[in-house]
Amino acid sequence: MASNALRTGLSIGGGVLERYADWLPLTEATPCITLGEGSTPLVRAESLERATGADEVWLKLELCNPTGSFKDRGMVVAVAKAVEQSASAVLCASTGNTSASAAAYAARCGLRAFVLVPEGRIAQGKLAQAAAHGARVLAVDGNFDDALRLAQELTDQLPLALVNSVNPYRIEGQKTAAMEIVDSLGDAPDLHCIPVGNAGNITAYWKGYCEYFHAEIASRRPRMLGVQAAGAAPLVHGHPVEKPETIATAIRIGAPASWDGAIAARDESEGAIISTTDEQILDAYRMLADAEGVFCEPASAASVAGMLARHGDGSLAGQRVVCTITGHGLKDPERAVESVTADVVEIDSDFAQAVAAIEEGLQ
Ligand code: F0G
Repeated sequence: MASNALRTGLSIGGGVLERYADWLPLTEATPCITLGEGSTPLVRAESLERATGADEVWLKLELCNPTGSFKDRGMVVAVAKAVEQSASAVLCASTGNTSASAAAYAARCGLRAFVLVPEGRIAQGKLAQAAAHGARVLAVDGNFDDALRLAQELTDQLPLALVNSVNPYRIEGQKTAAMEIVDSLGDAPDLHCIPVGNAGNITAYWKGYCEYFHAEIASRRPRMLGVQAAGAAPLVHGHPVEKPETIATAIRIGAPASWDGAIAARDESEGAIISTTDEQILDAYRMLADAEGVFCEPASAASVAGMLARHGDGSLAGQRVVCTITGHGLKDPERAVESVTADVVEIDSDFAQAVAAIEEGLQ
């Protein structure tokens, strides 16, 4: 049990492995690593309550995880199990957030990380994270689906741990977000809205809600509303999309690996998987930043865009809703600069000019 001596289990309050140990496939030999993931804020969004008529709309701010996305919950479990199984390196395909998370946890545990990303199609902040943590980046001339196929082939042949969400430990870790929501609200919400790309997260939330329901910790389960981008909506069309396109690069995926999990979540919850246009996603992105003070990346705003597209008519009256906000706006600074009109006034270092700019701004 040498691996248990790994010094990375220290964080005040504990991470996902410590707090949800009873719900995770841990053994005596699983090292209790953490970067302080999980325990993310659940905040009310009054502008969204007004827009939908819902009694309560809560935002689960997964962007507050250590690497700025929800991936850390699953990655901490996948990397802990890789260490337990004596792997020396991890590998994943990614639209950026999985690779940032894999790189960070691998660095913390002294593992080598290899990440396959679609060349030129991932946000700069995410690439910077992988580089900072010392991962080797394989920039693939293809899209995410090509990169994932290659990742699976590579890990079939080489002694590398695959840490994409096809790795069941990823799903196990990510389900803790649903459990946290029930722990915070005292029960499951009526509706849960979530962006869908490779479909691991919707699969994981549904698993978490079901496990708490069967353990009678929750008295019910929510309807799941999965939201894809219109140009990358295979689950809505019912068949893979060969050339997925959307400004929400994190969910530019045409052949989701957890296809069956997403469909089961939709059907068993009596929910839906819908698509929203890039324009609707960007409107929600700007609204979250402007009216709620939440700066997320575009893919994350898909959950809110979907809720507004379906329920902007006030049809959520009497309901309690949770939207997952999956990743941080700082991951994709170019998008922010392009899609909002910055309110900048150039002045000299001069008191009177500064006052004039402020007075004009107050009008
Ligand atoms: N939101 C963000 C910010 C993401 O990075 C992803 C997926 C999703 C939503 C969709 O989650 O794939 O579980 O349905 N990003 C993966 C990656 C594909 O490689 O970082 P999903």
